[in-house]
Amino acid sequence: MKKHMLFLSMFFMFSYCFASSKPTRQIIDFNQNWKFKLNDTLIVGWQVKLDDSQWRKLDLPHDWSIESDFLEKAPATPGGGALPGGLGWYRKSFTLDKNFKNKKIFVEFDGVYRNSEVWINGQLLGKRPNGYISFRYDITPFVKIGEANLMAVRVDNAQQPNSRWYSGSGIYRNVRLVITQPVYVEQWGTYVTTPVVTSDSAKVAIQTTIKNEKNIQRAVKVEQSLFDVAGSLVAKTDANLILPSGASNQLLQDLVVPKPVLWSIENPYLYKIITKIYVQGILNDEYQTNVGIRTFKFDVEKGFFLNGKSVKINGVCNHHDLGALGAAVNVRAIERQLEIMKAMGVNGIRTSHNPPATELLELCDRMGFIVMDEAFDLWKKSKTKYDYAQDFDKWHERDLVDQLLRDRNHPSVFMWSIGNEVGEQWGEEKTELGDLQNANIALNNLKVGANEGKMGPNAQLTRRLVDIVKKYDLSRPVTAACNGTDDNNPLFKSEALDMIGFNYHEKEFADITKRHPKTPFIVTESVSSLQTRGFYVHPSDSIIICPATWDTPYFNPTQKCSAYDNCHAPWGSTHETNLKIVKKYPHISGQYIWTGFDYLGEPTPYWWPSRSSFFGIVDIAGFPKDVYYLYQSEWASNDVLHIFPHWNWEKGQEIDIWAYYNNADEVELYLNDVSLGKRSKQGEDMHVVWRVKYEPGTLKAISRKEGKMVLTKEIKTAGTPVAARLTADRSEIKANGKDLSFVTVELLDKDGNPCPLADQLVKFTIEGEGFIAGTDNGDQNDHNSLKKPERHLFFGKCLAIVQNTGKTGEIVLKAEVEGLPAKTIKLFAK
Ligand code: GAL
Repeated sequence: MKKHMLFLSMFFMFSYCFASSKPTRQIIDFNQNWKFKLNDTLIVGWQVKLDDSQWRKLDLPHDWSIESDFLEKAPATPGGGALPGGLGWYRKSFTLDKNFKNKKIFVEFDGVYRNSEVWINGQLLGKRPNGYISFRYDITPFVKIGEANLMAVRVDNAQQPNSRWYSGSGIYRNVRLVITQPVYVEQWGTYVTTPVVTSDSAKVAIQTTIKNEKNIQRAVKVEQSLFDVAGSLVAKTDANLILPSGASNQLLQDLVVPKPVLWSIENPYLYKIITKIYVQGILNDEYQTNVGIRTFKFDVEKGFFLNGKSVKINGVCNHHDLGALGAAVNVRAIERQLEIMKAMGVNGIRTSHNPPATELLELCDRMGFIVMDEAFDLWKKSKTKYDYAQDFDKWHERDLVDQLLRDRNHPSVFMWSIGNEVGEQWGEEKTELGDLQNANIALNNLKVGANEGKMGPNAQLTRRLVDIVKKYDLSRPVTAACNGTDDNNPLFKSEALDMIGFNYHEKEFADITKRHPKTPFIVTESVSSLQTRGFYVHPSDSIIICPATWDTPYFNPTQKCSAYDNCHAPWGSTHETNLKIVKKYPHISGQYIWTGFDYLGEPTPYWWPSRSSFFGIVDIAGFPKDVYYLYQSEWASNDVLHIFPHWNWEKGQEIDIWAYYNNADEVELYLNDVSLGKRSKQGEDMHVVWRVKYEPGTLKAISRKEGKMVLTKEIKTAGTPVAARLTADRSEIKANGKDLSFVTVELLDKDGNPCPLADQLVKFTIEGEGFIAGTDNGDQNDHNSLKKPERHLFFGKCLAIVQNTGKTGEIVLKAEVEGLPAKTIKLFAK
């Protein structure tokens, strides 16, 4: 959102000097050259004079947990990713140029996990327990201009477990300095809505919060200019405002956009508004807000409409980790995840269960996703021993407000979720209306029905949270992800929610409008099915191949996986069962499947030796599992034909071959050129199947429409590997020190067929302007640190993530597998 990046750094006596003569706002990347020390008993890491010369040097964003091997005894437990937490100190020395004299200087943190405390020159600025929240401090009174300053950050993630999934540890999101004149647009200081949209014109309403920190009153002119994608001015307005000294006032302005290009999933068109603040005719501040013009509604009977068109939300839930990169934010890694989702036909993302990286929302704005922006996984009732429940009372309002202020301009955000499966769904029957009033809720906001005179504290809390949201954003509905679907759930009873959100319980979806006749319905979470990419085993008493093992007491031990898509958590369903129901009923606005990607932690239903989840449609390395193509065949418009499993079995074994396909009437399967018959989906079918007696050779599938071939797919029995194949998702990357190339390694036999069962160790070395940021293979049970430059292939694949050093030039990645010739791939950083 914020541009105008000017970053001039000069090495100056072990510290960095930020200089500029720009009169308006400057945003300075503050991620480089920090010092770091982990797990120290140190309590005075904030002291300016402390000798940190032996501390490790690093750049942010940084996640220290991901650097470790996975540990059985990690206090986070496998649920938290089996990686260490701990207490870390970060310090940064820097110098500010003389030009910054008389300016406002802020430091902004996008997220620190967790319990961060920040000092500047020995002065404590504050504490933020919530590890997902963005915050900033005004450091103006404490910094010295032209001399060395010392920022210190204490990050305390020692109390474990505190999360049901992998959180990461450290300053894992971006940090920047913001320099302004004393009259400036506040942090997250614009709020842009589009209250009237027709095909002829759109009204854009801009509320700007401007602060005057001069010791005298100021008359300011606030100019708003709206530009289209080509950079042409579309509309402009200005207004004057008197700002007393110390005041932070809001100004409302309107712009009219003729013939607006609407933001949509297919064409996520973004206008931008440049807000300029003039004081005595001199430009004082410049602030950019991206704007998407769109209309939407959730209808009780007909579901979700975007720009007047009915759209089913085909969404996924994701946690925030980026696989081998851990929690450390990297824009390209997030973009790649979203690209993989988009190619599957996904059009929605739920930021389960916390405020996401702001970069994720920026990408969703640009790429066209319907985001459910979620605040909390719990309220007062804890889910793990040391989680946010202990901070909820003191911090929930501040955290929620900060999330709303930060995220409410994103056109991709369509709804707020105030919580996921909170414990407050249970354990209360009734209370008196008087309690509601005590809860300090504006009575005119209450929608209490005639029979709803009594309400418990949990319903009140629901109302309180919804009221907080409504105070800052009336343009989006509020929901909560409820697994307590009973009508007596106090969250529903509160009547505060704009949408009923169910986690699972797909059997109840069909009749939900009878139970909640006035409130639209969304499936906030679904499925929780289990698969491991490339892994198929024979249950002893069945010839059908299962994609994951099931023999755990966590499940009903008699549950057998009778088909590829049949292993799921007891509260969930198979992919197909759920998909058929969501597809069938127009009143279901859509769904967010658990999950798009595997994530670190929560290996439910397993425990150690597993350390990451099995729920993803895509594995943690970013390799699609088979079921990816089910969704692609249902949701995407491109032609799809996917057959599986691989074709390396024992002679005579009977194997089920499944095909997911679309845009065709039938699929014919051949084994070594002999037809095994044609199949076509009947009724609600979402796949076709052949039972085939294995013999080595080639399986070939052809999909046809009206007799004409649409697609052909072949799987061949692979022989012994003779060579490695390296494939980069991008061979040219940006020389910005952050960009990534994701390189996939496979082994091929003498005929070039990929070997699906290969598990050899691949050792990586790199030369030139890149380094190995991580390696991965999708194996939930691999205990080697994901930072190691070596990785076993897992069912035929592994991944190396190459990051640019910051310089332009060639990068050569070499992969060595014992007994095979070394293989290199050349990449370029430009
Ligand atoms: C849900 C929960 C998710 C995840 C999932 C696993 O109940 O909301 O966070 O735990 O179960 O199936």
